[in-house]
Amino acid sequence: MKRIGVLTSGGDAPGMNAAVRAVVRKGIYHGLEVYGIYHGYQGLMEGKIKKMDVGSVGDIIQRGGTILQTARSEEFKTPEGQKKAIQRLEEFGIEGLVVIGGDGSFRGAQKLSHQGIKTIGIPGTIDNDIAFTDFTIGFDTAINTVIQAIDKIRDTATSHERTFVIEVMGRDAGDIALWAGLAGGAESIIIPEDPFNMDEIVDRLLKAKERGKKHSIIVIAEGVMSGVEFAKKIQALTGFETRASVLGHIQRGGSPTVFDRVLASRLGGYAVELLLEGVTGHMVGIQSNRLIHEDFDIALAQSHRVDPGMVQLAKEISL
Ligand code: F6P
Repeated sequence: MKRIGVLTSGGDAPGMNAAVRAVVRKGIYHGLEVYGIYHGYQGLMEGKIKKMDVGSVGDIIQRGGTILQTARSEEFKTPEGQKKAIQRLEEFGIEGLVVIGGDGSFRGAQKLSHQGIKTIGIPGTIDNDIAFTDFTIGFDTAINTVIQAIDKIRDTATSHERTFVIEVMGRDAGDIALWAGLAGGAESIIIPEDPFNMDEIVDRLLKAKERGKKHSIIVIAEGVMSGVEFAKKIQALTGFETRASVLGHIQRGGSPTVFDRVLASRLGGYAVELLLEGVTGHMVGIQSNRLIHEDFDIALAQSHRVDPGMVQLAKEISL
């Protein structure tokens, strides 16, 4: 293998740049030519491809977003789109492709690998919703952003003796809400993986008020329902003055944490090693601090699970 390509796809995540940097530099270290593919699969089909050198990934390890830009492409999901992408790879002589993204991006890489293209996927999404890896790149930075917001909201919630509902991202997954809610001392954490009981939540709020609590914070994952709607229900059922705060895309930005930079560098380097060993159609991940790889066909057939012990703990200590 002489020439590889790297792209970022789907929603951006802090640490994607660190992963791109690791792929480019590790590839060059091993004598490969590395090509950056801009705007994800869309850019691949359109031939937005440039040769990278060591300097082209300088000064990016600390930057959020992705210097390669990203996109969600409908055209690439079609057989015609994939044919175009394969033609482009052949035109540029790219023999191996590293795809940094989430579940949808991995499905794209899986399709290419079934058509003979050597691909490796690196999990990059704030949602932490990919099976076979304890963490995805960007999750740690996102929960640190959420925790800063929760701490700030807590100040104003206490001053006004209000209840706050904070809606966080995560698509259909609850990890952002669970981790940030636990770290932020939220009174209730509502996630798609654990159906909620409204009576219990209301009872908890009423008891907390009786004990003299000046505020309450409820963290809700977007995959459950709108935080604004949930706040309205809480206000109607408790009579407490309730506000909603939807954190939105702020969770996707910012300089990656040390954890995300290191994770991205390790996974990026490992992806190149695997391509050089001839592994294809696999994703890389981290389990108990060890790098692993797994076949897309197996990995994508499973969904990431929240830690039931953490869900239970949150219930027991978030009063
Ligand atoms: O997958 C990352 C994510 O931020 C999800 O948490 C969220 O549901 C979605 O992307 C938002 O997508 P968009 O940026 O296209 O609105």
